[in-house]
Amino acid sequence: MAEPAGEPRLESDMSPDQTSDQTSDQPPAGPGTFRRMDESTAEQWARIGAETMANQGRVADRVLGMLAGLASITDGFAVDQLTHSLQTATRAERAGASDEMVVAALCHDIGKYVSVPNHPRIAAEILRAYVSDEVYQVILTHQDFQGRHYYHHFSMDPEMRESYRAEPWFSLAERFADEWDQTSFDPEYPSESLAHFEPLVRKVFATPNRL
Ligand SMILES: [Fe+2]
Repeated sequence: MAEPAGEPRLESDMSPDQTSDQTSDQPPAGPGTFRRMDESTAEQWARIGAETMANQGRVADRVLGMLAGLASITDGFAVDQLTHSLQTATRAERAGASDEMVVAALCHDIGKYVSVPNHPRIAAEILRAYVSDEVYQVILTHQDFQGRHYYHHFSMDPEMRESYRAEPWFSLAERFADEWDQTSFDPEYPSESLAHFEPLVRKVFATPNRL
């Protein structure tokens, strides 16, 4: 197993010669590597592709780091955002959801690590290359499905989900929002730990299905 999940490293924690895109055990780009894309060769791209694939594990490392960072965000809820995420994923797992749906449940609010506004899209796009289109759509639209339970407090239409009723993923999105997500603000619920989900996170983020 690679690095344990922990607080993500921040740019300000790094020395000036490091960047967030370069880990300390990676060599710098060697001689023979292009400085302009219009001068690149097939051999150089083959090397870049092989190194990128060899470093794929860093995707799960960073997702786990962002999830751990959700523990610092509460914003008035009864539980912090990591607890909410673990509770949502635990309910999905205990209900027999697929591996990628469980990981998506764990990551559905990961966008809040960066920004609460537009967080469903941030989470959905992080997941998109690793899950089915059905699961991607569930995460992308989850706030509008949640709306049934709270949009009336914002003078918004609680039934915004109805615009998606014809979609093949509609019933999964309802189950996610109504049974797993909106119920998961309970400080007493016995959730699994982030370490419990780490192998599944590494499995799902190991193999992208698109560039
Ligand atoms: Fe949520």
